[in-house]
Amino acid sequence: MSYLQERILSDGVALNEDVLKVDSFLNHQIDPVVMNEVSKEFVDYFGDKGITKVLTIEASGIAPAIWVASELQVPMVFAKKTEPSTMKSEDQYTHDVHSFTKNKTSRVIVSSKYLSADDRVLIIDDFLANAEASLGLVDIVKQSGAEIAGVGICIEKSFQPGRQKLEDAGIDVYSVARIKELGKDKITFEEGH
Ligand code: G4P
Ligand code: NA
Ligand code: NA
Repeated sequence: MSYLQERILSDGVALNEDVLKVDSFLNHQIDPVVMNEVSKEFVDYFGDKGITKVLTIEASGIAPAIWVASELQVPMVFAKKTEPSTMKSEDQYTHDVHSFTKNKTSRVIVSSKYLSADDRVLIIDDFLANAEASLGLVDIVKQSGAEIAGVGICIEKSFQPGRQKLEDAGIDVYSVARIKELGKDKITFEEGH
């Protein structure tokens, strides 16, 4: 069992059958041991793919993404959820991402300065549920003309359709922990990544 899986079992809280609270080690307080482990797994799997950029979406994707970027010694870019006044006159890639969890749609933005057709991009995120966020990032990479090396996810909720949607789009997905079932006193994992 991976350290991330152990932490999910010991410190994760299933709020219901769909939502896992992991803010003691992944998306509020951040455990560097978890970050080291997940980034090493991503580098083992994607490290020989000629990656030039790591891409995520603010806020919770930033920590694992920057850890991986540091290992790969390439820049990390995060899509912004609000447009800074300093970006208004610049060319940008945008995509409207719908969050089922939050029941709202928000436009995410990446300046065209930081992704180009020469890049090979690894997309990283903390959770994979419906893949709205990941598919939004895939679309942004496509707008830039760059290639997608794959998608690396810390926690995949395998009972939701996100992974299948990404695979149907031809994307190589690696998830460190894959949750098969979420319940109050029972969290089970899928085999494999
Ligand atoms: P999707 O991105 O796969 O389509 O999933 P969804 O729309 O359902 O998720 C929206 C947000 O909720 C994302 O964060 C995602 O990381 C987070 N999320 C999804 N499922 C869970 C869960 O079981 N537990 C926790 N803790 N978060 C979950 P976001 O909107 O990008 O916000 P941020 O937290 O990164 O700022
Ligand atoms: Na996220
Ligand atoms: Na999140």
